[in-house]
Amino acid sequence: MLDVKDIQVNYGKSKVINGISLKVNAGEKLAIMGRNGVGKTTLLKSIIGILPLEEGSISFQEADISKKMPHQRSRNGIAYVPQGREIIPDLTVEENLDLGGYAHTTDLAGQKERVLEFFPALKVHLKRKGGVLSGGQQQQLAIARALMSEPKMLLLDEPTEGIQPNVIAEIATILERIRSEMDLTLVIVEQNLKFAKKIADRYVILQKGKVVSEGKIKELSDETINKYLAV
Ligand SMILES: Nc1ncnc2c1ncn2[C@@H]1O[C@H](COP(=O)(O)OP(=O)(O)O)[C@@H](O)[C@H]1O
Ligand SMILES: [Mg+2]
Repeated sequence: MLDVKDIQVNYGKSKVINGISLKVNAGEKLAIMGRNGVGKTTLLKSIIGILPLEEGSISFQEADISKKMPHQRSRNGIAYVPQGREIIPDLTVEENLDLGGYAHTTDLAGQKERVLEFFPALKVHLKRKGGVLSGGQQQQLAIARALMSEPKMLLLDEPTEGIQPNVIAEIATILERIRSEMDLTLVIVEQNLKFAKKIADRYVILQKGKVVSEGKIKELSDETINKYLAV
């Protein structure tokens, strides 16, 4: 479904992604892991098209999207939940959701209904400002907003960052339900190993802008964890 081929991404003169290739099949759940600063967020931003490629190419559903604008990639079915959630604090929960749907659906109310079915904790707060929600609720809102575009593939950047353990488990359950019922492919950047093991079936680990280890997440060894993930 997604085919990233030997990409390089720079900030000015510094090479941050330095020859990464990865494939994600439809329905798969891939965890992208690695310590702070290895290029995880940069990789996601290049997939959604807000950072240009210096080299290489990205295909989605067999079509080269390397030169496409972010809104075109979004229309093609790629959705993104940014690190730090970036919900709009002064808009209500409902307005935040509408923002995610405007450009994509002619049936805003219907899509909202379908999405909210997965998020009972949001449904009761529709008229509240996004900024007054708890961290876990804001993360759910960021995910729900991304789903408003009816995506085929959902990219999430550290969805558990700063969230309490009991809420993390709830988010894992919701994501698994969404994935199976909405027929989604998941790509999750994650530093929480327990969550990654729960949610993903395959992993890639980055270091200095390159893939240094990949495989089935069940086979992720302690040696690899100590080498590339432990702080
Ligand atoms: N806007 C930017 N301008 C310049 N350098 C950046 C920018 N954003 C990130 N970087 C650098 O790129 C590297 C990778 O960052 P990032 O992709 O955010 O890493 P990660 O998400 O794995 O923590 C880091 O060294 C970071 O300092
Ligand atoms: Mg990051």
